[in-house]
Amino acid sequence: MTSHLSPSPHKRIYIQEVVTRDGFQAESAFIPTEEKIALIDRLSNAGYAKIEVSSFTSPKAIPMLADAEAVMQGINRVPGVEYTVLIPNLKGAERAIAVGVDEFNLVMSVSETHNQANLKMGREDSFKGLSSVIDLAHSNKIAVNISLSTSFGCPMSGITPLKELMHWIDRFSEKGIRGITVCDTTGMANPAQVQEVCETVQAKHPNLQWTLHFHNTRGMGLANALAAVHSGIDRFDSSLGGLGGCPYAPGATGNICTEELVHMLDLMGLKTHMQIDTLLECSKDLQNIVGRTLPSQLLMAGKVDRVYKAPCQI
Ligand code: COA
Ligand code: ZN
Repeated sequence: MTSHLSPSPHKRIYIQEVVTRDGFQAESAFIPTEEKIALIDRLSNAGYAKIEVSSFTSPKAIPMLADAEAVMQGINRVPGVEYTVLIPNLKGAERAIAVGVDEFNLVMSVSETHNQANLKMGREDSFKGLSSVIDLAHSNKIAVNISLSTSFGCPMSGITPLKELMHWIDRFSEKGIRGITVCDTTGMANPAQVQEVCETVQAKHPNLQWTLHFHNTRGMGLANALAAVHSGIDRFDSSLGGLGGCPYAPGATGNICTEELVHMLDLMGLKTHMQIDTLLECSKDLQNIVGRTLPSQLLMAGKVDRVYKAPCQI
C-alpha cells in the first residue's frame, strides 16, 4: 500500500557507518589499531556509501582515536566507498591531508554551550576556523561536509530553535560545501520535528547533500529515521550494534543501529544495497571487541525471517 507519505520503493538509501568514530570515541579502553583496521576492512565490503574512519581531533580530547593516521593508512580502500574523517580545526585538516581522505567532515555545534564543551571555543570562532579549513579543502580538491551537532536539541540548553539551525546552515551553504549532516547528538528529536527540519532544509538548499544523524537515547531513533525518509532524505549515519555517543554531551548514548536501520528499510522495499548478514556477523564480533553486549535488538532477536521450532507439547 502506498500513501502520499511513502517513498518510492526503488529509491536508494545511502548508509554511512560511524562506528569507528562516533562508536569508538567514547569507549573507556583503547581499541587496538589492528582491530579498528580489520573491522573497517570487513565493513568496506558490506555496501556502505561512506565510512567515517576516525577523527583528527586532539588526542587529549579524544584519546581513543589518537591512532587516526595509522588507521587511515592501514585500511584497504574499496572503490565506491567514500572514506571520511571528522575534523574540528586546521591542525586536524593538515593531518588528514597528509594521509589522504575522500572527504572532510567538519564539526561544530548549533548550541553555543555544547560547542564550548566539545570544542573549547565559541561558535563564531569555530565558524572562522572551519572557513579556513574549507578553503584548504578546496585547494586540495577534497569534498567538504559539515556535521552540525545538537541540531535538534542540546542537553545543556534545551530544544534547538529551527531558526538557529537555519542560521548556521545558511552561512555554511555560502562556502561552497558539498553537504550538511543534521545531527541529533543526544536523541532529543521527535518525528514531527524531524519532518519540519528535513522539509525546511531541503526546500531552502535543494542542491546540498543532506545526511541525518540520529542517536537512540530516548528510543525515537528509528522513528526519526523513518520520518526523515518520508520527508525525502536518502542518506543516514548509523553505527554498528548501536554503539556511540559524544563524550562531551551529558547523557549521550548510542547512534541508531546500522543493522536495525538496514533491516527495517530492506523490509519496506527500499534499496540500501547493504549486506545485512555481514553486518550481523560484524556486530556480533564487535561485542567481543568492546567486551559487552551492544544495544542492537536485531542482534538479540535475529531477522524477521528467523524461524523457530514450535515448543514441544507436554
Ligand atoms: N589534532 C592533534 N592535536 C591537536 C589538534 C588536532 N586536530 N588540535 C589541537 N591539538 C593539540 C595542540 O597542538 C595542543 O597540543 P600541546 O598541548 O601539545 O601544545 C593541544 O591539542 C591543545 O590545543 P588547543 O588548540 O589549545 O586545543 P583545545 O585544548 O582548545 O581543544 C579541540 C580544541 C577542538 C582541538 C579539542 O577540543 C578537540 O579535539 N575536540 C574534539 C571533540 C570531539 O571530537 N568530540 C566528539 C565528536 S562530536
Ligand atoms: Zn553522534
